[in-house]
Amino acid sequence: MLPVPKQFRRCRLLGAGLLVIFLLDGSSTSCLYAQDYPPDQAHGKAVYERYCQPCHGPTGQGDGPDAGSLKVPPANFQRFQSFLKSDEELLRTIEHGVVFSPMHSWRGQLTDGEMQDVVAYIRLLSQQER
Ligand code: HEC
Repeated sequence: MLPVPKQFRRCRLLGAGLLVIFLLDGSSTSCLYAQDYPPDQAHGKAVYERYCQPCHGPTGQGDGPDAGSLKVPPANFQRFQSFLKSDEELLRTIEHGVVFSPMHSWRGQLTDGEMQDVVAYIRLLSQQER
């Protein structure tokens, strides 16, 4: 192996240090945060319109065309109760669903990235008309 010039060796050390800082950062420890790009609201919108809109409605008020036939009304994302929930809580609901409710788990149907994107889009909806 060729000897590595001194200045490059220091550079590598810096890289390793940054990696440690990144690994110690709490926000990157959950596997759902393994996504390496920021949530994409435009993509979230496409996912939402396809899978969620029939129940949650076009503006997230829980007034989609399928909502009338459900025993449990879909959550209204514009209500303060939903608005106050953290992204993490919404993500968990989407990932695991709600027991005894038409809101089933989306794990397996949506990728981690799609779930995060859809949360970003729900955030956008919940901030509208405020
Ligand atoms: C079959 C209808 C239906 C579909 C489709 C549906 N949901 Fe739901 N969703 C519900 C119902 C009903 C609830 C309320 C559950 C409860 O409170 O018991 C709910 C609740 C939620 C909540 C919890 C909100 C809160 O304030 O805690 C989130 C987040 C959510 N849905 C996201 C989604 C996303 C994202 C999709 C699409 C990937 C989706 N839902 C698709 C019916 C649906």
